[in-house]
Amino acid sequence: MAQPMTQDELKRAVAHAALREIPDGEIVGVGTGSTVNFFIDALATIRSRVRATVSSSERSTERLRALGFQVLDLNDVERVPVYVDGADEIEPGGAMIKGGGGALTREKIIAEVAERFVCIVDASKVVPLLGRFPLPVEVVPMARELVRRRLRAMGGEPRLREGYLTDNGNQILDVHGLQIEAPREFEYRINQIPGVVTVGLFAQRGADVALIGGADGVSTRTF
Ligand code: 5RP
Repeated sequence: MAQPMTQDELKRAVAHAALREIPDGEIVGVGTGSTVNFFIDALATIRSRVRATVSSSERSTERLRALGFQVLDLNDVERVPVYVDGADEIEPGGAMIKGGGGALTREKIIAEVAERFVCIVDASKVVPLLGRFPLPVEVVPMARELVRRRLRAMGGEPRLREGYLTDNGNQILDVHGLQIEAPREFEYRINQIPGVVTVGLFAQRGADVALIGGADGVSTRTF
């Protein structure tokens, strides 16, 4: 009997499937995380078709450069036709929780510029309702306790990601115990708290398409 695919095999499969989303001779936006690492490796097999990349983290930049990709400053780029990134959770409307890997701010910036957001996930990330995965919120350090109190008042249990600083020198609160029924509104409300740099809720700019790796292969969902 065939063995079920491991989570890494599912991630590798969706990462390879994402190659069909890459237009020739354009700039590719690259996210962060273990699924994206598989994507970067896959992208190296079509490197001559990629003009250059923009990257959402120091980690991804390092991996891209090691494989011979040019990594541009986003400020020097007019268009990003496609952005490929993973997610911690994705719901039926294409809204996501991201930032498990701590790169949420740069991810959100590139996602905003990108014309098409391709989300690559294994099937375990697909949920009916966001919130089981703790919601990351990047905060300016001096605002941490203010933001924590406000998030508690909104029904969550924020916990400091101990010993961790983002690429931007900020801290992360991981908010447990949420059931996010209206992701766009919730994203808006958290964005209003002074000191919040980025909330890892990607609802106002969600995915355009999700490639989902499951036991029966890679399926596609458009939003
Ligand atoms: C990093 C992210 C990642 O996309 C998310 O954490 C998923 O990571 P992985 O592919 O390792 O499961 O948002 O900030």
